[in-house]
Amino acid sequence: MNNEKIHRLVDEILADNNSQKEKLKAICSILKQEVYHYDWVGFYILDKSQNILVLGPYVGKPTDHTKIPVGKGVCGQVAQNCSTMVVQDVSNIDNYIACSIDVQSEIVVPIMKDNNFIAEIDIDSHAFAPFTNRDKELLETISAKIKELF
Ligand code: SME
Repeated sequence: MNNEKIHRLVDEILADNNSQKEKLKAICSILKQEVYHYDWVGFYILDKSQNILVLGPYVGKPTDHTKIPVGKGVCGQVAQNCSTMVVQDVSNIDNYIACSIDVQSEIVVPIMKDNNFIAEIDIDSHAFAPFTNRDKELLETISAKIKELF
């Protein structure tokens, strides 16, 4: 993974005139295309009134989990704790919502604005334990950049 290249591509996407949805989708595509171990990349966006996460733009196989209550699954825990979760082996955790039997690992990064949780980047991988600090750094930097879209 070439983090510099990815940051440059994300900056280009953010600078264009497309809608928020189009930009988020384009960022998903870039991440999936540029990082071999990213198999599903998507955004969940907080619906504050119902305290649930709603699936936003994504790339990869369609998922049944279009709404996730805060607190449920990896995604819901990140919404609650407001910190990145790296799950190197999804079979090891109880509070996990399986999207596909192919998924072995997952990283979820919160998007914060004015100290409030607003959305998150969710990435599933078919590889076992593929994530390093480079993934965390890359995704946390992107998360900080895209908060302006919300
Ligand atoms: N595995 C997630 C659910 C979302 S899917 O990965 C797209 C979770 O446990 O929250």
